[in-house]
Amino acid sequence: MKLSLFLAALSSTGALAAQCISRRPTLKPMPYSPRVPFPSPPRRSKVCVVKTHGDGVTDDSDSILSAFHECNNGGHVLFPRGETYTIGTAMDWTFLKHIDIDIQGRIQFTNDTTYWQANSFRFIFQNVTSFFKLGGEDVWIYGGGTLDGNGQIWYDTYAADIYTLRPVLVGIDGLKDSVVSDLVMRYSPEYYHFVANSSNVVFNNINIAGASKSKNVAKNTDGWDTYRSQDITIMNSVINNGDDCVSFKPNSTNILVQSLSCNGSHGVSVGSLGQYKGEFDIVESVMVSNISMHNASDGARIKVWPNAPSALSGDLQGGGGSGRVRNITYEDWTIDNVDYAIEITQCYGQSNLTLCQQYPSSLTIEDIVFRRFTGTTSKKYQPLIAAFACSSADVCGNIVASDINVLSPTGTNQAYCLNQNPANLDVECTSTYKGFN
Ligand SMILES: *[C@@H]1O[C@H](CO)[C@@H](O)[C@H](O)[C@H]1NC(C)=O
Ligand SMILES: *[C@@H]1O[C@H](CO)[C@@H](O)[C@H](O)[C@H]1NC(C)=O
Ligand SMILES: *[C@@H]1O[C@H](CO)[C@@H](O)[C@H](O)[C@H]1NC(C)=O
Ligand SMILES: *[C@@H]1O[C@H](CO)[C@@H](O)[C@H](O)[C@H]1NC(C)=O
Ligand SMILES: *[C@@H]1O[C@H](CO)[C@@H](O)[C@H](O)[C@H]1NC(C)=O
Ligand SMILES: *[C@@H]1O[C@H](CO)[C@@H](O)[C@H](O)[C@H]1NC(C)=O
Ligand SMILES: *[C@@H]1O[C@H](CO)[C@@H](O)[C@H](O)[C@H]1NC(C)=O
Ligand SMILES: *[C@@H]1O[C@H](CO)[C@@H](O)[C@H](O)[C@H]1NC(C)=O
Ligand SMILES: *[C@@H]1O[C@H](CO)[C@@H](O)[C@H](O)[C@H]1NC(C)=O
Repeated sequence: MKLSLFLAALSSTGALAAQCISRRPTLKPMPYSPRVPFPSPPRRSKVCVVKTHGDGVTDDSDSILSAFHECNNGGHVLFPRGETYTIGTAMDWTFLKHIDIDIQGRIQFTNDTTYWQANSFRFIFQNVTSFFKLGGEDVWIYGGGTLDGNGQIWYDTYAADIYTLRPVLVGIDGLKDSVVSDLVMRYSPEYYHFVANSSNVVFNNINIAGASKSKNVAKNTDGWDTYRSQDITIMNSVINNGDDCVSFKPNSTNILVQSLSCNGSHGVSVGSLGQYKGEFDIVESVMVSNISMHNASDGARIKVWPNAPSALSGDLQGGGGSGRVRNITYEDWTIDNVDYAIEITQCYGQSNLTLCQQYPSSLTIEDIVFRRFTGTTSKKYQPLIAAFACSSADVCGNIVASDINVLSPTGTNQAYCLNQNPANLDVECTSTYKGFN
């Protein structure tokens, strides 16, 4: 099959340029298909080639915006192979509709931390901000190119001041019936994707990496966080990062995550939830299947704050919120050098377990399945391989773990169990407590 189509394209300057546009990627959902079919819009009818100054310094935002406007409603925007684009202006891309964005080249964001902190888009959750805000409907973004967040300066700035507002690389607010595929994401200042107010969006074949080159680690570099969204699929991707590989934030429902290889992360997490008093958080009907998890603090994780004020750090505190986590399945996992293969806690941010049980979470956890896990944990919590901690049996139930073939390096399969039915857990429950991540 030909990889690209050869086309004579009219660039935005009006010059006739011969360009190879990418073919739309074929999406192969394995092992599951999402409940809402993937979008399959008709071919676009015109091509807009984005101009660049190409010097790696001068802002190309104007030409990007004009190509998006010119090709919106039925066009194909091309960032050609070999070109580099620099973005130094916060752009609102929520107007996009019926458009293909073919990124073959490299897009980098400027290192002007003062500008970005003053101008990046504010999302209302956890001080999240972003370089651009993507939204609209029937948007296909692919092409094999790279988005580079120029994160090093942010890792260093954050180390000096934890209140630095680090932008998310891909900030999404209100996107539907869309596909993001075949892209390389590098050096995000914070999360790689924040997906808010969205439905029926597929992320496929995304390659994420970007470790710090200084002594200041790249913190909070989650692969994907979903928020107020449903019918999101994340699949066939490789993630090398330093926080959650994928995380389901408040009001994430009908999410399918499958066929990922995660390395160096904090696992695939529900939460943290219940952080804000007076709010009701829902995470429901999530399937996380066929995951390999390497060199991570956690594998499959559910983290909920207790019903008492708690603090993990100066910029991470909370507790007292309510809501429910229901119908979550984690299956077919291979783990290697992971601290806890499975961790459920309703005591997130609270090291005093007595206090946590005195104020049980008002966020319930029920109908949770972990099945077919294999591999070896790290030695960090040895002899434990997992922790199942509910603050009370009244607010947490029907947690089942079956076919758990995970051992610690010394061959044990113990798990810390608090307010569990041990008969439902295919591990050796103990009351030995060695902490949470
Ligand atoms: C920021 O980027 C500009 C342009 O590439 C470069 O000249 C400058 O040295 C960089 N500043 C820092 C602090 O990295
Ligand atoms: C999502 O939509 C709601 C309701 O329209 C809006 O208030 C909010 O700002 C949007 N964005 C986020 C990140 O919640
Ligand atoms: C948000 O930023 C403010 C001020 O910089 C800070 O006080 C607060 O703790 C931050 N909240 C979160 C959830 O990080
Ligand atoms: C989540 O959904 C619940 C129920 O509809 C609602 O009460 C709550 O405000 C929502 N939370 C967010 C953050 O949107
Ligand atoms: C599981 O994921 C891997 C990629 O990590 C893929 O090669 C394999 O085909 C997937 N297996 C199934 C049954 O989907
Ligand atoms: C995987 O993560 C480990 C630990 O964080 C890191 O040392 C290693 O370089 C990562 N591997 C790749 C391929 O990035
Ligand atoms: C549970 O979640 C799965 C997706 O993983 C969904 O197919 C199923 O309908 C949900 N069941 C209920 C009772 O909500
Ligand atoms: C896990 O970390 C080890 C040691 O840093 C490294 O050799 C290995 O390649 C990592 N695994 C993956 C999948 O990157
Ligand atoms: C833990 O909480 C209990 C109950 O509130 C309290 O009595 C105890 O002093 C606390 N322990 C520590 C170490 O703070």
